[in-house]
Amino acid sequence: MSDNRGVVYLGTGKVEVQKIDYPKMQDPRGNKIEHGVILKVVSTNICGSDQHMVRGRTTAQVGLVLGHEITGEIIEKGRDVERLAIGDLVSVPFNVACGRCRSCKEQHTGVCLTVNPARAGGAYGYVDMGDWTGGQAEYVLVPYADFNLLKLPDRDKAMEKIRDLTCLSDILPTGYHGAVTAGVGPGSTVYVAGAGPVGLAAAASARLLGAAVVIVGDLNPARLQHAKSQGFEVVDLSQDTPLHEQIAGLLGEPEVDCAVDAVGFEARGHGHTGSQSEAPATVLNSLMQVTRVAGKIGIPGLYVTEDPGAVDAAAKQGALSVRFGLGWAKSHSFHTGQTPTMKYNRQLMQAIMWDRINIADVVGVQVISLDEAPRGYSEFDSGVPKKFVIDPHKTFSAA
Ligand SMILES: NC(=O)c1ccc[n+]([C@@H]2O[C@H](COP(=O)([O-])OP(=O)(O)OC[C@H]3O[C@@H](n4cnc5c(N)ncnc54)[C@H](O)[C@@H]3O)[C@@H](O)[C@H]2O)c1
Ligand SMILES: [Zn+2]
Ligand SMILES: [Zn+2]
Repeated sequence: MSDNRGVVYLGTGKVEVQKIDYPKMQDPRGNKIEHGVILKVVSTNICGSDQHMVRGRTTAQVGLVLGHEITGEIIEKGRDVERLAIGDLVSVPFNVACGRCRSCKEQHTGVCLTVNPARAGGAYGYVDMGDWTGGQAEYVLVPYADFNLLKLPDRDKAMEKIRDLTCLSDILPTGYHGAVTAGVGPGSTVYVAGAGPVGLAAAASARLLGAAVVIVGDLNPARLQHAKSQGFEVVDLSQDTPLHEQIAGLLGEPEVDCAVDAVGFEARGHGHTGSQSEAPATVLNSLMQVTRVAGKIGIPGLYVTEDPGAVDAAAKQGALSVRFGLGWAKSHSFHTGQTPTMKYNRQLMQAIMWDRINIADVVGVQVISLDEAPRGYSEFDSGVPKKFVIDPHKTFSAA
């Protein structure tokens, strides 16, 4: 049996590459399965969602093998896998989904009812998501493979675009879902809060969907500069000029048609003073202010039910001071939750293969080795405008 190595969470601020078990054809409850495959991981990305855990802002347990953004090659398959072959290159949606339950049948694969005994929704290497082993590793198990996996059609062409295709496991579908659920279409004016990889993926998706103008907001100057270099308008929320006035400065009116929250519960306040501290409801409240009446707000940014590091007792339970009355008065629609990746990944793969979207450049993909993962985590946490992609078998350099 082969060895395996993976990125392990060791407590607040600490991850390490360690020897881990080679995957077995069994679920986290120890039941043998025949519907799974074992992948040799070709690429696996570090995500802002991982950072919430590594910053100690969740109840993630020490010893968790991280990694939910996985692309790989099938090297072993269970007896019941019918539509996939050894050697296939596949993109793995970060959601673990069974394909059999009501949620899956209705395309809500982010809240599959069977893969996590504790609550709806499963994912690899993530707190509260069913204990599926993470894929920031050399090898990983994917269950319900026929249902979950997206086969990349042409291996050579796929390897040429692997820096882009690696974004199909999460951030591109997530940004796209944010834009779609915000109602973006031809001619829309769009505001995206957050210039991290998800915000930039939402901005690129809005452009793909035909938005007239896309404004990206953040407090991080390097990320704003990068967003600008990719052709987006930007607003700097560390400035004292309020968001709606900055939007008016760009659009001639203080509201947009569509808004996306790509920040989540670790949001900082606005303005010189506000930005010095965390204010978890800021983005939600500001989006209600700047979204036009009857507009939609897409919320891929993560909100939690328990946050040990929250600013106050209510926020420790995920209860935030949201001015819901304003959203009600403006007839806003809100869409939250884990992205149902599978709903979008095939179309977005085609958009990549036919050069309709240059997602790797937009999010600043930087390829690193597995051993460099701890450095990737700390650099990403420092706010560099990059998306770190781990290449555990040095497949990229060989391509
Ligand atoms: N719904 C899903 O399925 C899903 C999938 C992937 C990621 N996510 C979540 O999306 C969010 C973004 O992910 P990421 O990888 O881009 O993370 P990230 O941490 O790299 O980016 C977040 C950005 O928000 C900025 N920010 C902080 N306060 C702000 C404010 N008030 N206004 C505007 N910007 C502000 C930060 O400076 C940072 O650049 C995270 O919460 C992540 O967990 C959700
Ligand atoms: Zn992710
Ligand atoms: Zn299901």
